[in-house]
Amino acid sequence: MSENKMDKIVALAKRRGFIFPGSEIYGGLGSAYDYGPLGVLLKNNVRQAWWKQVVQQRDDVVGLDAAILMAPKAWEASGHLQSFTDPLVDCKGCKKRFRADHLLEARSREMKGLKEKPLTIKDVRCPECGGELTDIRQFNMMFKTFMGPLEDAAAVVYLRPETAQGIFVNFLNVQTTARKRLPFGIAQTGKSFRNEITPGNFTFRTREFEQMELEYFVKPGTDEETFESWKDFMLDWFVGLGGKKDHFRFYEHPKEDLSHYSKRTVDLEYEFPWGWAELWGCANRTDFDLKQHSQHSGQDLSYRDDATGERYIPYVIEPSLGLDRAVLAFLIDAYEEIEGGRTTTTESNKEVETVLRLHPALAPIKAAILPLSKKEPLVGIARKLQAELAKQFFVQYDEVGSIGRRYRRQDEIGTPFCLTVDFDTPNDNKVTVRDRDTMKQERLALDEVAGHIAAKVGR
Ligand code: GAP
Repeated sequence: MSENKMDKIVALAKRRGFIFPGSEIYGGLGSAYDYGPLGVLLKNNVRQAWWKQVVQQRDDVVGLDAAILMAPKAWEASGHLQSFTDPLVDCKGCKKRFRADHLLEARSREMKGLKEKPLTIKDVRCPECGGELTDIRQFNMMFKTFMGPLEDAAAVVYLRPETAQGIFVNFLNVQTTARKRLPFGIAQTGKSFRNEITPGNFTFRTREFEQMELEYFVKPGTDEETFESWKDFMLDWFVGLGGKKDHFRFYEHPKEDLSHYSKRTVDLEYEFPWGWAELWGCANRTDFDLKQHSQHSGQDLSYRDDATGERYIPYVIEPSLGLDRAVLAFLIDAYEEIEGGRTTTTESNKEVETVLRLHPALAPIKAAILPLSKKEPLVGIARKLQAELAKQFFVQYDEVGSIGRRYRRQDEIGTPFCLTVDFDTPNDNKVTVRDRDTMKQERLALDEVAGHIAAKVGR
C-alpha cells in the first residue's frame, strides 16, 4: 500500500466531509482533526459496532461514562504522574524535537544489529539535518489545567490520558449496583488526551483522541485464558466488519518493554500505508490498578467470592482500542480505485472511479434515493420513501445530475444501496435497488425496501 494512497484518502476525507484539519481557517492546530457530516456518522457507527458486540450482546459486560477530569490522587495511584513519560531529544542544530525511542529503533534497523553494545542516543544524529542531539529527557504526556478560579499548584488537574482509570475507581460502584459476579467487564468510550511529542500520520497519532476500552475483571489464575479469548475477539471484530485479514497481525511485547502495570501485552497491528503500527492493545494489568487505588484511597476494592467465601483483588484483562485509528483502518481497507471506471454510462468511461467498500453497518449513509425526474409524481414518491427510511437509517436524497454521476457520488462515500425511483414506479410501486459492490440491480416493492436494508446493515 503506497503513501500515495494515504494522500488520496486524506484528500477524499476532506473533499467529502469525513475529516477536516482542526481550526483550519486559523491555519490549523497541529494534530487536531474535526469529523465532518459523514465522518461523525462513520465514527458513531464504528463506536456502536464495538459497543454492540462488547456490551449489548454480552450479559457479562456493562457500560460506564466516567468524567474526563479526575482527582489528581487517582493519577498518583495509577502511576501516570511518575511514569507516563516519553523520552525526548532535541536537535542542537535545527532545534527539531524527536522521540528518542523512535530514533533509536530506526537507527538500530539501519544497522541491522551490527553494533555489539546496545545503541545509545550518542550513536544517533538528527534525521532532519544530521546535527547533534541533546541528552534524553523524560517528558510527562499528561495535559494539565486548573480547577476553579485560582491557578495555583493546589488547583492542578489533568485531562485523562486513558479512559481506564475512570473504570477502576468505579469498580465497586458498578459491581454492586449492577450486581455482577466475576468474571465481568466494564466498558467505556470517550476522549483521552496525550501531549504527544511527535503526533502525525493524519488521525493515527493525535493529542486528543477517543478510546474504546474494556476492563474485564477475573479471578487470578484465570487471567491467561481470558487474555487469549479477548485477543481472538479483537481480530474477529475487525475482520467481521470488513477488515482485510492479511492487513492485521499480532505483536507480542517483549518482557523488558512492558508498561509498569502489565504482565503481558499483545498489540493487534494494522498495515498502514507507512508500515505496521498498533491499532488495539490487549494488556494483562493484573491486580495492579485496583491494589493501587485501594492503597491510595483507603477504600477496600477487593471482591468477595460468594461460592468460596474468599476475598481477593481481581485481575484485569484490558483490550484498549483507539476509535480514530479504527476509523482510519476501516477507511484505508475500504478505499478502492477502479481505472477506467466500472459503470457503463458513457460519461464515466475512462474516468477513475472511487468506491468506498465500507461494511454496510459502518457506512455513514445507508441508502440514496434517486428520482429519475425532478417532477411529480416521481419526486413525491421519492420524498415519501426518504421520509419513511429516515425513521430507521441515515439516507440521502439526490436529484441532481445523471444517474451515473449520482451513483458515483454515493460509491465514493460508501453508500451500500441506491434506490432509483423511475417512470414505472408510479404504476408498479417498485424501485430499482442497486448494490454498491456487485452493481446488481433488482426491483423491490416500496414497502420491502426498509427490510432489505435492515437485513444488510445489522451487525
Ligand atoms: N488503557 C491502556 C491504554 O491506553 P495505549 O496502548 O496507550 O493503552 C490504547 O492506548 C489505544 O489507544 C492504542 O492502541 C491506540 O489505538 C489508541 N491511542 C493511543 N494513543 C493515541 C494517540 N496519540 N492518538 C490516537 N490514538 C491513540
